[in-house]
Amino acid sequence: MTNPVPTFPEGFLWGTATSSYQIEGAVTAGGRGPSIWDTFSHTPGKTYNGDTGDVAVDHFHRLREDVALMEQLGLNAYRFSIAWSRLLPDGRGAINQDGVAFYRQLGERLRAAGITPVATLYHWDLPQALQDEGGWLSPHSPDWFAEYAAVAKEQLGDLISIWSTLNEPWCSAFLGHSEGSHAPGITDPASSYVAAHHLMLGHHRAIRAMRETNRRPDDQLGIVLNLIPAWPATNEPEDVAAANAIDAVHNQLFLEAVLAGRYPQLILDYHDRFGVGDRIDATELAEVREDIDYLGVNYYNVNLVRYVAGAPAMAAWPGSDGSVMDPPPGELTDMGWGVEPAGLKWTLLRVAEQHPGLPLYVCENGAAYPDVVAADGSVADPKRIAYLEGHLAALGDAMAAGADVRGYFVWSLLDNFEWAHGYQMRFGLVRVDLETMQRTIKASGYWYRDFIAGQRS
Ligand code: FCB
Repeated sequence: MTNPVPTFPEGFLWGTATSSYQIEGAVTAGGRGPSIWDTFSHTPGKTYNGDTGDVAVDHFHRLREDVALMEQLGLNAYRFSIAWSRLLPDGRGAINQDGVAFYRQLGERLRAAGITPVATLYHWDLPQALQDEGGWLSPHSPDWFAEYAAVAKEQLGDLISIWSTLNEPWCSAFLGHSEGSHAPGITDPASSYVAAHHLMLGHHRAIRAMRETNRRPDDQLGIVLNLIPAWPATNEPEDVAAANAIDAVHNQLFLEAVLAGRYPQLILDYHDRFGVGDRIDATELAEVREDIDYLGVNYYNVNLVRYVAGAPAMAAWPGSDGSVMDPPPGELTDMGWGVEPAGLKWTLLRVAEQHPGLPLYVCENGAAYPDVVAADGSVADPKRIAYLEGHLAALGDAMAAGADVRGYFVWSLLDNFEWAHGYQMRFGLVRVDLETMQRTIKASGYWYRDFIAGQRS
């Protein structure tokens, strides 16, 4: 009989992921400065129901309880992000020691519980003070980011050895500056390519700054990209070209900028078309390029892309006129995303083939479903369990086929503030009652606990 459960290597990291603005709350406590997400979520009409992260799920005050939950789940890793404006309320300059103390406490508690901390520097909450100076459109932004990276590494590098610079820079650049559905809410295609360039320069400069600061032998420095396969709906050349255009903006722009220090030709064409070349010097990337120790991959779904003559480019993929996207057939999650575990295997193997020898982590994977709380308070969430089971099988297949994956993180530990969707989308393995803040482990949380335990026995 074959064992349906893949066996993962010793030392594999089993975690969950969260981000600062989505869970911490306490936005004015402990000396934190405002971020662009405070501003954006408080702007009428920008989030579902006018929801904000003011309180979020109050993690700032419930750190001890939340680490205890991770212990109950048997996790050996936890991926979180640092709020830039807690360490540097103005984005640069004076360090806020209360902010440092909060993340030191988190790191210490995690380590005491045998849980490896995995920190992301930037999960979209740019200090508002820096936005006021132009944000990611400013040519100074890469240096601001490098300064912050050095401060974080200096203050926390004894507790944290796995670091990511940016989380999903595609979202920061294109949802933030072209579609405008994320902070800072700018809707200008040219600006989105400028922001993408500064994010990429910032990534490389931050890697260098972290390598030069508080250097430790077990440091692992990387970045997290959301790689969404853009599969052509048919083999017709028009559909293949339409899919390539989406792939270029979503995936290849960032993979090449990070790993090779250059942009795909199609992106350079878009730069010309939007006049971006007058605002940036794309060749700078090659000069600042730094190697990474691992690549973090966030995977949720795939898009099927077809060509429709005359269709305008979708705002989040500026330049890709004629490309239209659909989810694959079948049931959708609450986010309207299809469920396609094969896409995870495909993504990991593609990166492994294109960049042999690069260690990988799956830094986010998970699903939003409308959970139902039973009379006894329990939450049965069979669809989330099925989603995780399918994706873990695909992960095992990818590893068996040669992908060097070192860890897997479910999005998310807790239900939380899902950006423009507010609190309507629930991704947690742990339910949070938003009135009382009470935490209840869902059936999927127990399922994940047992899966991890099964890997260790
Ligand atoms: C990813 C984000 C994360 C969360 C999940 C659902 O794009 O990194 O913060 O919103 O999607």
